[in-house]
Amino acid sequence: MSEITDRRTTRDRTSFLRSLRAVRSFRPDPVPQEVIDDILDVARWSGSASNRQPWEIILVRERDTLTSLASVEGYAGHLAGAPLGIVLIMAGDRAEQETYDEGRLSERIMLAAYAHGVGSSIGWIVGQGRDAAKELLSIPKHKVVRTAISLGYPDEQARRSRSGRGPARKPLGEIVHHERYG
Ligand SMILES: Cc1cc2nc3c(=O)[nH]c(=O)nc-3n(C[C@H](O)[C@H](O)[C@H](O)COP(=O)(O)O)c2cc1C
Repeated sequence: MSEITDRRTTRDRTSFLRSLRAVRSFRPDPVPQEVIDDILDVARWSGSASNRQPWEIILVRERDTLTSLASVEGYAGHLAGAPLGIVLIMAGDRAEQETYDEGRLSERIMLAAYAHGVGSSIGWIVGQGRDAAKELLSIPKHKVVRTAISLGYPDEQARRSRSGRGPARKPLGEIVHHERYG
């Protein structure tokens, strides 16, 4: 590969990472099983503290379950219109490490989905919603349920808001320091 092609490929990859945006409205089309399998395989390879892999995943496709999950306390209302939900179940043994691991897992699921043209958004389940979600999905009480991810192909509304590129980001000048703070 020439140096120019190589640079372009690298730029394509970083631009892929830069352009991931939350998608919260979906076409009804199902996500094909081979796409789901690939997303799950990427998820499985996420790094975790001490390689404990303290996670399990529930795939939810049933409309009634998605609607019920969307209505528990939290910010996952977008599940109601998604053809697929992925609920992350963390072991509940080491809170700090697992919270970090959960973030990495979520991001990889979203990026793998995006690579297949599938949009996604995190939805957090909070307060009483966590017990309600455990009850709905028969998850043991000691496990942690906080993150649900809606997945599906972006609908027109999502495409339109994507073209506006979504919420802005702070300029680097506001967040990067050199050598020491300030
Ligand atoms: C830890 C975390 C929790 C989030 N929780 C929610 C949520 O509960 N509901 C939701 O619609 N979006 C949620 N989001 C998505 C953010 O709102 C979104 O990433 C942010 O506004 C930037 O928008 P963009 O990803 O489209 O660029 C969450 C994101 C993260 C990283």
